[in-house]
Amino acid sequence: MNIIHVSSYEELSRKAADIIASQILMKPNCVLGLATGSTPIGTYQNLVKKYQQGDLDFSTLTTFNLDEYLGLTGDHPQSYRYFMNDNLFNHVNVRPECTNVPDGCAADPKAYGLAYDQAIADMGGIDLQLLGIGNNGHIAFNEPADVFVAETHTVTLDKSTIEANKRFFNSIDEVPTQAITMGMGSIMKAKKVLLIANGAAKKEAIEKSFYGPITPEVPASILQLHPDLTVICNLD
Ligand code: PGA
Repeated sequence: MNIIHVSSYEELSRKAADIIASQILMKPNCVLGLATGSTPIGTYQNLVKKYQQGDLDFSTLTTFNLDEYLGLTGDHPQSYRYFMNDNLFNHVNVRPECTNVPDGCAADPKAYGLAYDQAIADMGGIDLQLLGIGNNGHIAFNEPADVFVAETHTVTLDKSTIEANKRFFNSIDEVPTQAITMGMGSIMKAKKVLLIANGAAKKEAIEKSFYGPITPEVPASILQLHPDLTVICNLD
């Protein structure tokens, strides 16, 4: 586990983008696991800049996103598919058919989740998984629980997650209460994991996750068992 403390969001974003760019340069046909939320926005801006400068080529890679709100279609401005198109995919030369975001409107989410994990496995697994972290220690939408769940599955969002994410919606009543999320299986099988945390509100989650016991009550704590984990934190 490599924990890097930086002193600004800009530095965090630059460093995270440099790690992702190195992955793409080392393996142009790599599989990237991508995340949404406010933290990765700067990372994606740096990746777009590198693409525009001619330093990065996205044309042979594949992406799988972590999660999606249940009930939102990809054209809904608060959906994670929309977020990814808007913040990254529309600005680089990734092939749209090689970008995967869980379908929040799948008719049979259980079967869909298993097929999503199989699609990742069929690509040889994820080479580099980018993660944010929730104030409650969640990764993707794996909320604090009694057990770790391996498969892509549906979840009921924690009150604290709904509260944290209401800033993106007109009112808290509009925040979906359920989501489909990659489970710990595909995340832990990723060859490398890069977790980014920004702001003082994440301090406790980082302490509990990486300096406390491994427990599903703190979902990110399972990452202590990952053989190639980098954490970049700007916690002031
Ligand atoms: P944030 O969300 O980047 O908007 O803080 C992170 C998360 O909830 O995983």
